[in-house]
Amino acid sequence: MQKNIAVLAGDGIGPEVIDQALKAVKAIEQRFKCRFTYTSALVGATAIEHTGDPYPDRTHDICMQSDAVLFGAIGDPRYDNDPKAKIRPEQGLLAMRKKLGLYANIRPVSAFKSLVHKSPLKTELIDGADFMVIRELTGGIYFGEPRGRSENGLTAFDTCTYTRTEIERIGRLAFEYARRRAKKLTAVDKANILATSRLWRETIQELHADFPDVALEFMFVDNAAMQLVTWPKKFDVVVTENMFGDILTDEASVITGSLGLLPSASVGIHTSVFEPIHGSYPQAAGKNIANPLGTILSAALMFEYALNIPEAGQLIRLACERSIEQGVVTADIATGNAYTTSEVGDWIAGQISACIPTP
Ligand code: IPM
Ligand code: MG
Repeated sequence: MQKNIAVLAGDGIGPEVIDQALKAVKAIEQRFKCRFTYTSALVGATAIEHTGDPYPDRTHDICMQSDAVLFGAIGDPRYDNDPKAKIRPEQGLLAMRKKLGLYANIRPVSAFKSLVHKSPLKTELIDGADFMVIRELTGGIYFGEPRGRSENGLTAFDTCTYTRTEIERIGRLAFEYARRRAKKLTAVDKANILATSRLWRETIQELHADFPDVALEFMFVDNAAMQLVTWPKKFDVVVTENMFGDILTDEASVITGSLGLLPSASVGIHTSVFEPIHGSYPQAAGKNIANPLGTILSAALMFEYALNIPEAGQLIRLACERSIEQGVVTADIATGNAYTTSEVGDWIAGQISACIPTP
């Protein structure tokens, strides 16, 4: 089997964590006797430096021609601390999501048994938590127009917009995922305040008629933020709009013990993108200390969601679980000696190549 993988390492710790994911993917290549062609492309602050554009056309063409995109991170403090910058790295990520039509961002959250003690939450609350947040990714306040500043500069505004069609397609996808899991869907909104949320609620309620076997509940986002950390085991599939999903998934990462552990899959119309949910973590960039597991686990999702080799995904996940169990982990989750980013990557690739029997 021959597949094309676009590799967009991006900024900050992006290149380091992507290198580790590639080690795992190459180990899979050997093990499963498949052939991948890797094509690197620029994105984010690095792309601005080289081309003036955070998502150059050439990068888009490479993504369009690939079977999957493996993505690191984007963001740079030079832009974070310059609110007047006209071109920003994040615009590259948003342009990529929009142009590839990636309307659904799937973020699985589960507590690793051997890590429950690392979470600031009580073990009995999180042990066994296992849910999935489906975040709408190409609409809402991230993209709505108009946006900007008043002429005198004293007022700023953003617009949150959703169409029925946008809500229907993500809603349908969420019901389908719920159907394949525990048949329970929580739709998170702010329907007591926002018109967009009321359209979400109305549309999801109507869709429910096509999925009568799925139990549906609605929850206001403020209440969901509280329930996620007080009773995470009650959730199975959560569907929500772009901004709420962004915030709730960072919060949910506390359940796993580290933001560095959460992978994601963005799927939609064109090529799917696989990326860790953590950002570019510039303080750690180049130090070989960042946790590569979120990116390696994103590669596992790539095999399941895009490359159609689910056993490879399972094998990568198993190797990651072993690294956690055996303490071959970076400082953010280490109890004893911390390993470096590349040591963890080598160890996991080694497990994939040799130690774990093919499932
Ligand atoms: C994420 C990130 C991005 C977002 C940033 C980097 C633009 O936080 O993928 O969750 O807000 O969507
Ligand atoms: Mg985020």
